[in-house]
Amino acid sequence: MIGVAVIGAGNWGKNLVRNFASIDNVELKYICDLKDDIRKRMSSLYPNAKVISNMDEALEDKDVDAVVVAVDAPLHFEVASAALQAGKHTYVEKPLTLTSEDSKKLIDLATEKKVKLMVGHLLEYHPAVNYIKDAIASGKIGKPLYLYCQRVNLGIVRKKENAWWSLAPHDISVACYLFDAEPVSVSASGQAYLQEGIEDVVFANLKFADGRMAHIHVSWLDPHKIRKITLVGNQKMIVFDDMEAAEKIRIYDKSAEVKRSVDDYAEAISLRVGDILIPKIPSIEPLREECKHFITCIINDTTPRSDGADGLRVVKVLEAGSKSLSQGGTPVEIR
Ligand SMILES: NC(=O)c1ccc[n+]([C@@H]2O[C@H](COP(=O)([O-])OP(=O)(O)OC[C@H]3O[C@@H](n4cnc5c(N)ncnc54)[C@H](O)[C@@H]3O)[C@@H](O)[C@H]2O)c1
Repeated sequence: MIGVAVIGAGNWGKNLVRNFASIDNVELKYICDLKDDIRKRMSSLYPNAKVISNMDEALEDKDVDAVVVAVDAPLHFEVASAALQAGKHTYVEKPLTLTSEDSKKLIDLATEKKVKLMVGHLLEYHPAVNYIKDAIASGKIGKPLYLYCQRVNLGIVRKKENAWWSLAPHDISVACYLFDAEPVSVSASGQAYLQEGIEDVVFANLKFADGRMAHIHVSWLDPHKIRKITLVGNQKMIVFDDMEAAEKIRIYDKSAEVKRSVDDYAEAISLRVGDILIPKIPSIEPLREECKHFITCIINDTTPRSDGADGLRVVKVLEAGSKSLSQGGTPVEIR
């Protein structure tokens, strides 16, 4: 059994608590939160776990093997460092930290302590995203050319981070995961309408070395609730609509091809429009898959899919995007 402590049981942390309380090979030992009302609710829902307000007790407990960090993003580094320092396998919600320097420190600390470091890049555990990943690998869509993502809604408006840092980690991680690469530059434009200096809406463009491109639109000031990713390949195109209950993926057998006539060397662009396939995607909770993956990696001593390096890759893009935002959208190179 892997003893787990969850630090932060707020809006999102409570979902992590629910999953770690019910997956195999886990004993949920501690739930820690600063707020009285949250602790009261957790105590009545999970009577077998010890509910505490200070994480030190959990970090000092030898029966705690793993710590799950779901506090506010600016506190990730401090709480995750303490967990790693105590020799615990550590799962940190996205974004891993607010600077790439801090992400590197966490990676080094995890290496030094010989423990797992995993970041909550939820969509890498989504069966629909993995369907697309497999479709790319099997050559089903041809060569991936570009993708674009929309993650917009009215709310939740954050006060300590802008829409880029709050929402874009998901799309950045998906773009890097599907393209199996890290972008070389980012340009991002956005505006703060509700709170000074906190962008509510951001449009960003990630360029990859070989010409592939990812466009990301995030906003918490929008009339629509959209969570959609469109990937265009040179043979087929895939749309993943996470707001669809069952038909999450559509594969469009569409493409455009430049054809040269052998006789007169003229160029013609031929458009091909075929069937639309809606594959069956297993109906499983991505968060549950993610939590199970963390535990499996600890038990089998394997590297998590979304490890510290993956977390750092996303933080580097977020940092470069922030710089571009402050420079009015000029492209910023990622080193
Ligand atoms: N993967 C996803 O889809 C997803 C979605 C939403 C939020 N998140 C991430 O989850 C994290 C939490 O977000 P949230 O929306 O739940 O925020 P929240 O404000 O609702 O919850 C944070 C909780 O952490 C507690 N906390 C803060 N410092 C603490 C400490 N030192 N010890 C114990 N408890 C402490 C607070 O009391 C609060 O209850 C953030 O990193 C956010 O980016 C991820």
